[in-house]
Amino acid sequence: MEHISVLREEVLHGLDPHAGDRIIDCTLGDGGHTSALLPRVGAVGRVLAIDLDKQNIDLFKKRYPETLSQVTPVQGNFSRLRDIALAHGFNSVQGILFDLGWSSRQFSESGRGFSFMADEPLDMRLDARQGETAADVLNNRSCEDLERIFREYGEEPRWREVAHAVKTRRNRHPFKTTGDLVEVVEGIIKRWGTLHPATRVFQALRIEVNHELENLQNALPQALELLAPCGRLAVISFHSLEDRLVKRFYKQCNGNIITKKPIMASRAEVLKNRRARSAKLRVIQK
Ligand SMILES: C[S@@+](CC[C@H](N)C(=O)[O-])C[C@H]1O[C@@H](n2cnc3c(N)ncnc32)[C@H](O)[C@@H]1O
Repeated sequence: MEHISVLREEVLHGLDPHAGDRIIDCTLGDGGHTSALLPRVGAVGRVLAIDLDKQNIDLFKKRYPETLSQVTPVQGNFSRLRDIALAHGFNSVQGILFDLGWSSRQFSESGRGFSFMADEPLDMRLDARQGETAADVLNNRSCEDLERIFREYGEEPRWREVAHAVKTRRNRHPFKTTGDLVEVVEGIIKRWGTLHPATRVFQALRIEVNHELENLQNALPQALELLAPCGRLAVISFHSLEDRLVKRFYKQCNGNIITKKPIMASRAEVLKNRRARSAKLRVIQK
């Protein structure tokens, strides 16, 4: 499924890029925001576009070869933002964007088990080269650890029962696929409204496997440091844990918070793109 960028116009308005600016897009994805920035920064401007998922870097180079004089796509983790930026000569930039989470295409086509909608290997790693998979987490972590993950990262009210059911099941059959996990969760949580019973549990595992909150926490101070005076930092988050972190960081910074309240998608945008319903954009100026 093609990814539709959220809050595109609002990001442009928030970052307010000008001709000749240097911008870092920390989450290239399908390149929607990066592409929108290019006409604004013009032929002299440059965008450093980072993504942890190598497939996104390769796809961008293949799809938009004509932009490569303006865009430098780099595979990397934004938790190492300073090193990546300096290595590519982006040491003082006018704008930095984070559009957190995963793209629709990663959900539907990566085959790495991000979604409960298809039966796939329970991997969930954005960077398939390293770290524990979601199956490793379910099969090897202590019950207390699983409880913490489902409670803190999933905000799943039935965290204790789910953790215990995982422990019981893995003793008989280790977890291999998304279907294995969906079966366990559906045995405990019944479908209520439009929310799939496994939504929160999957969210929790994705956050744990990819160290999402830790990465964001590491990256934000580096981003502020890389901004030139009056440069702008824009972050789009999709759940309250990320948003809380961003909000707290902005309050601690000695910057001008441009968005006193987070910017959310219009009704028209949500009708076109359901993913936009939980997006919150916060912008700060150095
Ligand atoms: C919501 S998508 C971005 C979509 C993009 N803005 C667009 O318009 O097409 C988020 C992207 O961030 C990447 N990502 C997530 N965590 C990352 C990290 N720690 N470092 C670098 N990229 C990361 C994901 O691989 C994914 O491609």
